[in-house]
Amino acid sequence: MDAWSNSGVSASMVRSPSAVERVLGLLEKPPAEPDVSAGYLDLLGPSTEPPPSLAQSVMQSTFLPQIYEKVWRPVGFNLAKGWPVGPDTAAEQAAARDWLGLAQPGDDGKPPATVLDVACGPGNVTRALAAGVGADGLVVGLDAAQTMLARAAADTGAKGAGPDVCYVRGNAVDLPFRDGTFDAVCCFGALYLFDDPWTAVDGMTRVLKPGGRLIILTSRRPLALPASRLGGEIVRRATGFTVFGDREVTGALADRGLTGIRRRRYPLMQLVAGRRP
Ligand SMILES: C[S@@+](CC[C@H](N)C(=O)[O-])C[C@H]1O[C@@H](n2cnc3c(N)ncnc32)[C@H](O)[C@@H]1O
Repeated sequence: MDAWSNSGVSASMVRSPSAVERVLGLLEKPPAEPDVSAGYLDLLGPSTEPPPSLAQSVMQSTFLPQIYEKVWRPVGFNLAKGWPVGPDTAAEQAAARDWLGLAQPGDDGKPPATVLDVACGPGNVTRALAAGVGADGLVVGLDAAQTMLARAAADTGAKGAGPDVCYVRGNAVDLPFRDGTFDAVCCFGALYLFDDPWTAVDGMTRVLKPGGRLIILTSRRPLALPASRLGGEIVRRATGFTVFGDREVTGALADRGLTGIRRRRYPLMQLVAGRRP
């Protein structure tokens, strides 16, 4: 019996049945009865635990997904990237495609890449990555928040000429995919929310194919602000938000053997990338 007959739901409820079938083939432990009833592949099941932090509670609210892509994301992130000098959302997305070895929208010969967008929220970055992938490619958006994923699935719409896109409910700190699965992994605007960001980076590195590329957009402590381990820990415990030191993320990628590490620094954020040898 295939995943669709097993799930008991109509294939039309998710964007593309073939995308779900493809994702099931990438999982370390594919579920015997995949649940796609909410429009995404749910690997976490019913939530009973309260959100672990204030920041996570905000992310899991029903309100944030409604305003995230058009208001919260551009206002908050563009300011943190130093607007009007720093890159706007379109420039940030173009840099992501470029650094990940994907094509730009309108280019000929888009790669048939398999791409993972970790902590995809409402799918804003997932769709931007899909715009750089050819029709044979696959783009997977993973997030833990049901509200965000419902919005992602609704906003991504019917499959057109682009790659398969599939949303998965899973934990970024314990990625459910097999080793060496993805040509590119992206994690924007989320590493600072994870309870264990370095285990998450271990996982993102693990699921990259040899030669695959990783890009991360995350927080950055301005050099003018003195590094205080205690101060950082107090902020993290109170809000669930980690502010990373200036060389902490590049160092983490180097420690995991990534090469060709590059970085752009913004006032309160940093864009960091590397390649698995
Ligand atoms: C600010 S949004 C980022 C959305 C998008 N990547 C962007 O750059 O705009 C952060 C997302 O991280 C997700 N998230 C936080 N911790 C997570 C975890 N442990 N596993 C999966 N998703 C997580 C939240 O649910 C939220 O959707």
